Amino acid sequence: MLELKAEAARLLSDATGKPVSPESLGPAPKPEMGFFASRVAFELGGNPAEKAKEVAGKIKSPLFTAKAIGPYVNFFPSEDYSKQLVEKILSEKNNYGKGKQAESVMVEYSEPNTHKAFHIGHLRNTALGIALSNILEHAGHKVIRVNYINDLGLHVAKTLWALQKFHAGEEPPENKGKWLGEIYAEASKKLRENPEGDKEVRELLQKMDSGDAEAIKLMNETREWSLDEFKKIYEELGADFDKWYYESDIKGETKEIVKELIGKGVAKVDDGAVIVDNSPAGVNLLQRSDGTTLYSTSDLALAKHKFGDYDPDRSVYVVGSEQKFHFQMLFETLKKWGFRQGEKCFHLAYELVVLKSGKMKSREGEVILYEDFSKEAKERALKEVQEKNPDLEDKEGVARAVGIGAIKYSMLKVSNTKTIVFDWEKSLSFEGETAPYIQYANVRCHSILDKAGKKGKPGVVGAPELVYELSRFDEVVAEAAKEYSPHVLALYAYSLADAFSGFYTKQQVIGSKDEAALLALVGAASVVLENTLRLLGIEAPRRM
Ligand code: ARG
Repeated sequence: MLELKAEAARLLSDATGKPVSPESLGPAPKPEMGFFASRVAFELGGNPAEKAKEVAGKIKSPLFTAKAIGPYVNFFPSEDYSKQLVEKILSEKNNYGKGKQAESVMVEYSEPNTHKAFHIGHLRNTALGIALSNILEHAGHKVIRVNYINDLGLHVAKTLWALQKFHAGEEPPENKGKWLGEIYAEASKKLRENPEGDKEVRELLQKMDSGDAEAIKLMNETREWSLDEFKKIYEELGADFDKWYYESDIKGETKEIVKELIGKGVAKVDDGAVIVDNSPAGVNLLQRSDGTTLYSTSDLALAKHKFGDYDPDRSVYVVGSEQKFHFQMLFETLKKWGFRQGEKCFHLAYELVVLKSGKMKSREGEVILYEDFSKEAKERALKEVQEKNPDLEDKEGVARAVGIGAIKYSMLKVSNTKTIVFDWEKSLSFEGETAPYIQYANVRCHSILDKAGKKGKPGVVGAPELVYELSRFDEVVAEAAKEYSPHVLALYAYSLADAFSGFYTKQQVIGSKDEAALLALVGAASVVLENTLRLLGIEAPRRM
């Protein structure tokens, strides 16, 4: 559709003498009334309906015809557009809809802390990061996927304190990383009830900071427990990283950076502490008066490494919205420090995930752990699949695709700026805005193609809703990439599946007079459904 719109915008500009952008072309009320429409006639003075007629009369293109509908100029794709589109989709396959953007974009996502739980907030983050990276790549960018692990500091000391104090000599369970997360929650609870413990935690932190051999050994050993757990989760979620950064590797550089920034006049000493004054937005604290550096200082070291290692044009951080101020300060300071990327840093902030039971905060131990959540998803999906298709092969595999797909999709279809209220029944339903509904549309495509036993041949078909949805995939990808908005693609996935379902209910394919052309259309629908699901990071089972 991008191509059609670009050409339409060009012709409209010629016809009216006014600049018309492709973005100004909005959807027509329904595809039967054209694939898109322009409201330029409103800007020409005089009677808009007459102007629309005049403009439409001047537009000639082999790609479409223009017709005035009231004050709008509507564009109808040419007669054989459906044939050309299906041909294009079937020949380009995975590359269909690929854009021409050419920047390099770093996407940092997931970023769980060691010694703490990987919970459903991290799932939202990871689902967003996977989808965003794939979308940016499909828009044409070169994408560098990175993870950043805070494996130092107070939270580590708390967990290790409780581990030693309450679990000494215990045999760790199978999933040691998950166990640490539970111990962290326990530590927080105990420290709230009994603040005297704080002193012991501080002592342990001190030991870790000063390189005490025993403390470091325990820290390193347990750190691996968390990392092992994260890697298993990433395998299940299909999360990939080009590079892992660890705070423990870069923390040592923070004091030098603070000195450098003071030397450059970017930072200044204020009452013994070191700050960057980013007013009116706020103040970036880099070093406390006791000489210790902070989370925010480590982020300066991290950015320096990232830019030095990959020199990306842009840098995106997928991190919860509670860190909005932190990133505002970071980006300001990076600009002052002199990084060209400072202008093109973006904090993709997302809101909480809640179940009906309420909020989740890891400090209060009410978290929903990823492991419990994904297990439930797979179990529920298995039940659905068993009920719907008792003869299915590899039920476990399909249930994993459906269950994990369902929880990811319910994270992705909601704009990142909105809180998710997660509902099991809704997420796993085979109807409505869900992964199973979209996956099932693709399964139907395959069952038609398998039954026909042949591929068909592109031809002119009259299925405007479906053709319309297939044609706008490139535009949706471009918009989702430009706005850093995976939910735009997630909602499109539903519209596409819904258009296919509408087609499927109305139109007999096998044995119809247009069988060959319709089979090719079904093949194209499956290609685009699978592309969409792939970009969202959701599996597309052949059968379910
Ligand atoms: N690990 C941090 C947390 O759980 C998030 C890290 C975000 N990334 C960053 N570069 N600061 O809050």
